[in-house]
Amino acid sequence: MKVTVVGAGAVGASCAEYIAIKDFASEVVILDIKEGYAEGKAMDLMQTASLNGFDTKIVGTTNDYSKTAGSDIAVITSGIPRKPGMTREELIGINAGIVKTVSQSLIEHSPNVILIVVSNPMDTMTYLVHKTTDLPKNRIIGMGGALDSARFKYRLAEAMEAPISDVDGMVIGGHSDTGMVPLARHATRNSIKVSEFLSAERLEQVAADTKVGGATLTKLLGTSAWYAPGAAVSGLVQAIACDQHKMFPCSTFLEGEYDLNDICIGVPVILGKNGIERIVDIELDEAEKAKMQESAEGVAKTNGLLQL
Ligand code: LAC
Repeated sequence: MKVTVVGAGAVGASCAEYIAIKDFASEVVILDIKEGYAEGKAMDLMQTASLNGFDTKIVGTTNDYSKTAGSDIAVITSGIPRKPGMTREELIGINAGIVKTVSQSLIEHSPNVILIVVSNPMDTMTYLVHKTTDLPKNRIIGMGGALDSARFKYRLAEAMEAPISDVDGMVIGGHSDTGMVPLARHATRNSIKVSEFLSAERLEQVAADTKVGGATLTKLLGTSAWYAPGAAVSGLVQAIACDQHKMFPCSTFLEGEYDLNDICIGVPVILGKNGIERIVDIELDEAEKAKMQESAEGVAKTNGLLQL
């Protein structure tokens, strides 16, 4: 199993690190345009192999896509991250050009690749890949919901003073400060609804804190977060590589599911060796449906800025 990670910045490097530590891939190629940068990150990570006990080979390259040839999965993290006060949507101009070129170069060298898009604004970048490549939709996956759900679980655990392992919950919708739809009604603590433990007001606060999860970190760090994004990507990569049939919310092209069409947005999907094995179209209540529609309108508006 060969995995390529494009972008050796914080998210890309963290993603490569978590994939390597889990030791399910034979090779991880890190590619970056900055001379020597990916080689340096790869070498540093390889020098953790004996310490962390993994055998995954990590290779770095400066923009040489021939090194990525035969990749089963490729993760696109390239582009600029947001700075404090910026929305993910503001990155569209620069990142659209980068994501288009990167996805085409990856497919040229690995025609059977499954692409995972992380660059922001992620749902729109996933849509862009869908519109500008010939890849079937099961092989184009946007990573946002897995990260947002991890942030939701973190906030739920904090509010309930519970260990995270007790908590389950999912965030669907667009990967943006306003577009996320945390499914509080479905979240549980060991199968008991979280509403048994938290007041409606506290749950509202948890949802609000979840939605600005990325922005809160960007403010603290001065740039976008990387540990949780990297770990979330590694979970998707592992589910595909090991044909786990695990369910994650991912951005995928919808054709009528959730009453939405011609859009990539976060919904629960089953991930296996073919990428998206199927979309899980769950029944939402009226309030959730309205939030999902509103979220989709926001994503569609950003998609409208693309020059396709
Ligand atoms: C975040 C970026 C990766 O949410 O979108 O941290």
